[in-house]
This record gives sequence, C-alpha cells and structure tokens, in this order.
Amino acid sequence: MGIVELAYDDLGAGTPWVFLHGFPLTRMLWEPQHVLAGEARLVLPDLRGHGGSPPNTHATMDAMARDVLALCDTLGIERFGLVGLSMGGYVAFELHRLAPERVTRMVLAATQAEPDTPEAAEGRERLAHQVDKDGIEPLLDAFLPKLLSPRALADEAIVSKVRAMVLSNDPEAMAATLRGMARRVDQRPRLGDITCPVLIVHGEVDGAIPLAHAQALERTLPRARLAEVEEAGHLVNLEVPEAFNATLRGFMEEALVEDALQASP
Ligand code: MLT
Repeated sequence: MGIVELAYDDLGAGTPWVFLHGFPLTRMLWEPQHVLAGEARLVLPDLRGHGGSPPNTHATMDAMARDVLALCDTLGIERFGLVGLSMGGYVAFELHRLAPERVTRMVLAATQAEPDTPEAAEGRERLAHQVDKDGIEPLLDAFLPKLLSPRALADEAIVSKVRAMVLSNDPEAMAATLRGMARRVDQRPRLGDITCPVLIVHGEVDGAIPLAHAQALERTLPRARLAEVEEAGHLVNLEVPEAFNATLRGFMEEALVEDALQASP
C-alpha cells in the first residue's frame, strides 16, 4: 500500500512540532493550540481517511505513520517533536518505531500503549459493520459520550465542534480505521526504546481511556512525566485548552533550553 498525500496546516516558524489528532476527528481538533504557533512551527495533518485527506480503507496505524513521515520529508523537516492524542498516540508510537532518530520529544495525550482486549476488538468490528451499513451517525452516537466529560457535553460550542469533525469524515474510511485500531500492536514491549523526553497529558475523567493507562505509561517510559488535568475528559486539549497549552508551552520551552545547552561548546 502506498503513501497517501495528507491535507495539513503548517503554522508559525521555528522548532517543528507535528500534531496527530484522535479518532474519529480531524486536524480541527488542534484549533485551540494554534496560538502556540507564536513560539514554534506547528504541522497539523489530517491522518489518512480523515478530514481533508483522501478517503482510504487501508487504515493501519503503521500506514498512517508512514504518511506523516512522508509529509515531513516533503516539508523538509528532518527532526521534530511529536504530539499524539489518543489514536494520534497509537500512530506516534508507530512513527517512533519506524524512525526513532527523527523524534526529538513526544507528547502523549489521552492515549495508551495497550492493544484492544478481544472484547473491545469485537465491539469495534460490530460498530464498523454498522457504520458500513448505516453511515456515520452510529459512530457519532457511540463516540460522543466517550470523547467528552459530562461538563463538556453540556457545552454547546464544544459539542458542535466535535459533531462537525465526526460528520465531515467518510463512513467507509471510519469503519476501516476502527478495524485498524482493533489490530494495533501492543506497544508495551518497546516503551523502553523511547528514550527521548516524554510529556504525558491526561484528563482525570477521561471516559475513553482511563487515567490508569497514562500512569502506567509514566511508570514504564524511561524519561516521562505525567500532567493530570482536573475535570478534563478525553479531548483534554479541547476541553481545557488553557491548562493543556500551558503544560505544552512549558515542555516546548524546556526543549529550547536543552537544545541550546547541547549546541553550546
Ligand atoms: C480516539 O480518541 O482516538 C479514540 O477514542 C481511540 C480509541 O477508540 O481507542
């Protein structure tokens, strides 16, 4: 299967950071982070099959990671910081496996290293079948309550943004991505290979991936620290952008200081 040319935003200038959105969303997820373009270069792709990228039914995490690497090649970006939220984190793990030397730092938001349990994989297959048959609405019904905290579900602006992202996606591509996530590999055996600094950010009331997964990541990754965000659900960057951006900004600043120290004689 070949590389897919991705739709993307390329904002700001300076140290490059590549942001990978979650499922079944688009790069619009990162709008509250656009302000960070004042300090760094932000590359925000739509992963294959999502948003403005062409619909695609070969939707493995590996294929998505290869598309992102190809996009970075096209943009002349050799090394970069990598931010992945949820499925974006699954893709980030794959990208790191493919090209560890290109990833300077990672931000793992609302994600996990564990694969699906057999029950979860079966549930995804059932949902994929339904989406193939009935279109995108069943996906919205299944995911919306998991993606947002009760507080965010009561916020009309947040809900309509998430609905717009989900409904803009191609049903066949979404069904394929559900199957791709169900087949993703267990990343735990190779967490020790991720030796770059890692910031883990997780909402305390994440209803899709419970906080315990982030705590396990922090215990296992060699150079990680966890920022737990109070009252935030799964889409932590969208629900509580001020806290998310402040944490990310701090991590980006640390990176600049470390890079300057390493560059000095
Ligand atoms: C996501 O936000 O990307 C999904 O909730 C991930 C998943 O379903 O495992």
